[in-house]
Formats: sequence, C-alpha cells, structure tokens
Amino acid sequence: MTDPRAAAWNDLANLPVPTLAELFAADPERVEKLSGRIELGETGVLFDWSKTHLDEGLLAGFEGLAEAADFAAMRDKLFGGEVVNPTEGRAAEHSALRGVGRDDSVEEANALRDRMEALVRAIHDGALGEVKHLIHVGIGGSALGPSLAVDALARDFPLCDVHVVSNIDGQALEEAFKACDPQTTLLAVASKTFTTIETMTNAASALAWMEQNGVSDPSGRVIALTAYPEKAVEWGVDETRILPFAESVGGRYSLWSSIGFPIAMAIGWEEFESFLDGAAKVDEHFRDTDGRDNLCLRAAFADLTYARLRKAETRAVFAYDERLGQFPDYLQQLEMESNGKSVTAEGLPVDGPTAPITWGGVGTDAQHAVFQLLHQGTHLVPVDFIASIAPGDSLDPAHHAILLTNCFAQGAALMAGGNMSADGKDPARQFPGNRPSATILCDDIDAATLGALIAFHEHRTFASAVLMGINPFDQFGVELGKKMAKDIEAGGVVFDPSTTALLEKAELG
Ligand code: F6P
Repeated sequence: MTDPRAAAWNDLANLPVPTLAELFAADPERVEKLSGRIELGETGVLFDWSKTHLDEGLLAGFEGLAEAADFAAMRDKLFGGEVVNPTEGRAAEHSALRGVGRDDSVEEANALRDRMEALVRAIHDGALGEVKHLIHVGIGGSALGPSLAVDALARDFPLCDVHVVSNIDGQALEEAFKACDPQTTLLAVASKTFTTIETMTNAASALAWMEQNGVSDPSGRVIALTAYPEKAVEWGVDETRILPFAESVGGRYSLWSSIGFPIAMAIGWEEFESFLDGAAKVDEHFRDTDGRDNLCLRAAFADLTYARLRKAETRAVFAYDERLGQFPDYLQQLEMESNGKSVTAEGLPVDGPTAPITWGGVGTDAQHAVFQLLHQGTHLVPVDFIASIAPGDSLDPAHHAILLTNCFAQGAALMAGGNMSADGKDPARQFPGNRPSATILCDDIDAATLGALIAFHEHRTFASAVLMGINPFDQFGVELGKKMAKDIEAGGVVFDPSTTALLEKAELG
C-alpha cells in the first residue's frame, strides 16, 4: 500500500519557488498573515514567520500533508495519553504535568507536584537546615532543561545557588565543589532510570565529598528525582526525599516534572508554577488550533520546507538575549534526539531527510563568528532569532537597543541581500539574499515566557515528526555506544584495530 503522504509530498515538491522579495511584493498583508501571538497573561510571545518562504501554495500543501498524515488524530492521541511511542509502547505525557492532558494523568501529575511543592517549601523553610547550594547531577534531559531554566530565570537573586553537573569528566563536578560549602549543600540525583552511569558515578562522588568534608548525615541531604523510586531506595535515599514522576514522561520532556526541582529551588514555587502555566498556554493553543493558524504546526511546515524540499542540512537558532544562552544546547537534544531517525514509526525507511542538525549561539557574539557563512556561504541555513523587548540588564538602554537593532538587521540583511562594493562589481562583496529566517519576539523573558518557548518547540518537533511519519519519542540511537563502553569495561571483546590501539595507548580495556 502506498503511503498516503507520498502524493502530498509530491505536490509540495512541484510547487513554484518564489523569492522572499517576490512574496513580500505580492502580498502587503504578509506580515500579519504569517505572524501570530500567544498571550501568557501579563506577557506574550510573537512568532513572525513572514521571512520564511511559506506562501499560500506551501501552506495549503502542508495542510494537505497534515491531513494525509492524520495529524489531528495523532495530536488527540498525544493529549489523550494514548501510545504515541510505538517502539516502546508508551504515551508521552509531558503536557499532563502542565495540567493539559488525560484527566487521570493530570490528576496523578498534580498529586506528584503537590509532593514536590511540599518538599521545596519545607526546604526553603529550613526543614533540612541551612541550604545555600544545590548540586544537581543528571545528564541529557535530566540536566539540559533544568540548567537552561536556572540560567535564564535565576540570574540575579536565586533562592538557592544551583550547580547542574552532567559530564562524567570529574572536572565538571570539581568545579561545583569549588563553588559550594559542603555543610550547606544539598545533592539532587536526577535520573529517570536511576541507572545512567555518568549520573550515578557523579552522585557517589558528590556524596563522598560531603562525607570527607565532615557533613554529619550526607545521605540525609540527598533528593532523588526519578521515575523508578524503588531504585533510589536501593541506592540509599529515604522515601521522604524521593520525588517520583511518571514513566510516560520522556527524559527530554522531563523538566516539567520533579526533574525541575532545581528550578523550583532557585526561583521559588510560585514562579515554577508560572513556568508550567506558560507552557500550558502553548499546549492549549497547539491542541485547539487547526491548520496554518496553529503556530507550532506552521513552524513545522517551514522546517520541512527547508529540511525536506530544499535539502537544508542544518538549522540555526540565535538567542539575542544572554538569559537564553543555553537555549540552542537545549534544543539540540529536543530536536536531534527526537527526530534524528532513519525509519518511520512503522519501521520502514524514511522517504526523505529527517531532523536537520540544530546549532546556534547568542547574538551579537555569533555575528562576529559564524554569520559570514550565513550571509555568503554556499549552505542554505534557515535561522531562528529569539529576542525580548524588555531588557535583562539595567545598564544604559543603549545596550538593549543595539542588541535588538542588530537582531532585526540580521534578518533583514539575510532576506534582502545587497551589494557592498563601491562600483557594484566586486563578487566578494555581494550578498545573494533570499535567505530565510523566523523571529520569536518575547515581551520579556520571565518564567511563563520560558515555559511557553520550550513548549512551543516541543510541539513544533512533534508536529514535524508526525508529518514525516516518524516516532519522536524513542532514542535507540544512543544505545550502541553505551553498550560498547560497557563491553570495553567488561573486557574480553575484540574491537576494530583502531579502537584496540587507542585502548592500548590509554592502558584501558
Ligand atoms: O542517553 C540518552 C538518554 O537516555 C536521554 O534520553 C536522557 O535524557 C538521558 O539519557 C538521561 O537519562 P536518565 O534520566 O535516565 O539518567
């Protein structure tokens, strides 16, 4: 049987390809049509996709593809707590943690959140003595989201000094030790599975550091954040300090669960709830809006225009705001671990490229490092700019004005192109233009906005996966390397000559 999506892809591939200049010239209402705002109470976020090549043909074609891919039914399954991760037979219930999902899942999530709130409030009230520092050990989804959120939201006066440590390289943990007083430090061990070697090794070393530094009851200062509480009990954590979350919450979607403990510790419980509420606003928008008006789906249409139809191999994200400096790193896991696949959800070879390589940085720094390639290189790189109208600093407003001006100028320059040579003839000074970008303009970067930004990207990633027919919720690609590392440790396995020689040099294996 032929894939019902094949005809839709075929139609899309045969559409005319106007330039951005032609698209703007043809439609004076283009900006309004391709911009949309999500309101978050006191603030909101504007999503301007007008500088992408989306036009009536592409929008209608992708809406046809969404229909052929049964997008609405898949979205119902996602919010209905049904299996959307067929290879592991699991639901993906991160939105239930924000109050949007199947009733019983939301109820269960609320009960677990109440437990987390009680512990966070008790610690803030001194139940575990003086707590100035928190070392949070975790990796991948158990670290990237918390680290991003703490860095974005708790820069000025954190209620607790949080250090997220992920790498097994002991230098990372030693850095945290240098910054923390063991007597006033708590240790959060964050691992969905509670088996990940990096996290468990770091946890054991952090506990030993506390012991060696005369902390009277080190294990009494450990909080476990996991979907497998019984494993934390086995590891020696008292049940009262274990904050569980549901198995149906994937690692890279887990910052909304107890994995977000360090966020709540740093910004306080009310702000943590505001973070969840901001995400819930995007959940509602994504669940209740159809077709091109659905901003997450519209973003997926543009992403697939470039990745599939125009064969762009990467996409770049530049945060013009120091508070979002870790956003590109966070997105790399969300997008590449979710959609970096070669087979469909049915196990068949995919019919085109899947996730592009996500990369990026902060503006304006990146302008002076990598933007040369964006403007004049041979690769097509669709760019997202993310910025905030309100500044994150209290210096002369000139700083923020220059920051935003540069952000908008880059999008304009990529699109318009131009000629910088005196006589107009120097090829080295030509800018071809017609290079696409999207701009996400936040009123401010507060907890609700960050929640909304993350949820927007979660749903954008899911929407792309559905349109490509792949399962975004498994990640078997990380397993083979882990197994080989274990094999090396266990010994007795013969590797290729290069690996064998490297192991010999390092006296390993
Ligand atoms: O190796 C990849 C991965 O499984 C991620 O998906 C996950 O976020 C990370 O490892 C950490 O896993 P855990 O939370 O179980 O320690």
